[in-house]
Amino acid sequence: MSIKTEEKTRFGNWVSMKFIIIPGIPGLVFLILGVVAWPWFLLAGVFLITAGYFLLARRRFSPGGGNLQEKVLHRLIAEIRWSGEGCVLDIGCGSGALVIRLAEKYPAAGITGIDFWGKGWNYSKGLCEENARVAGVDGRVTFVHGSASSLPLNDGSFDLVVSNMVFHEVKDVKDKSVCLTEALRVLKPGGIFVLQDLFLLKPYFGTPEAQIERMRSLGASEVEMIRTCDEPFVPTFLKLPFMLGTVAILRGRK
Ligand SMILES: C[S@@+](CC[C@H](N)C(=O)[O-])C[C@H]1O[C@@H](n2cnc3c(N)ncnc32)[C@H](O)[C@@H]1O
Repeated sequence: MSIKTEEKTRFGNWVSMKFIIIPGIPGLVFLILGVVAWPWFLLAGVFLITAGYFLLARRRFSPGGGNLQEKVLHRLIAEIRWSGEGCVLDIGCGSGALVIRLAEKYPAAGITGIDFWGKGWNYSKGLCEENARVAGVDGRVTFVHGSASSLPLNDGSFDLVVSNMVFHEVKDVKDKSVCLTEALRVLKPGGIFVLQDLFLLKPYFGTPEAQIERMRSLGASEVEMIRTCDEPFVPTFLKLPFMLGTVAILRGRK
């Protein structure tokens, strides 16, 4: 008798295991040392609380623990006002989650996902392609290697440019707003952009007003910033600046 197993997409988790393991292991060592000399307990507490925080966050992001990752993604999709005819680019596509959701929503669109696929996540081009095959959209999606700071794509190639939780992660440029310039460059005149990231993190992106003004000065119109961090699905404990406390959507038209 053969057992048929249903194939599932694997989108991974934005909270990498390293955030749990790196403070968790020394935390356990300090806990043991605390038996010999109690001050180690204090250090153990700091490390284990940090590991516990990220463990809880990872759980909330996962499908079994609140599906927060999917909710954040859907918040971005809800802000897309588009006919569905043409080409889409997802900058920093990770495991292909947004590319696949858009391919399902817009059956007439051709969708490209680009990513650096660095060390931080267990994401790869192969994983994206496998997820697309499992979701049954592999004929309409393409995955390309490249950096958000210098997209290896021609000017004015896309009707819609999206990106979710990527630009703050870009390490190959100091000024993260270079990624916004790049996103706008590859957009066709009249095309729309819907970008979600930690845009309220001032040291990285400046003030929301400055970002909007910058996009306008680059030729964008109808530019607006939407504070996703205030959504009811964002739990209070995740409202730290580098978690979901500074998340916003930057939307507009070229
Ligand atoms: C938090 S994950 C988000 C992944 C995906 N956008 C999603 O919504 O599931 C951040 C992504 O940014 C990508 N990334 C980091 N630096 C990048 C760069 N310079 N260019 C393109 N992608 C980059 C990472 O490889 C990773 O896939």
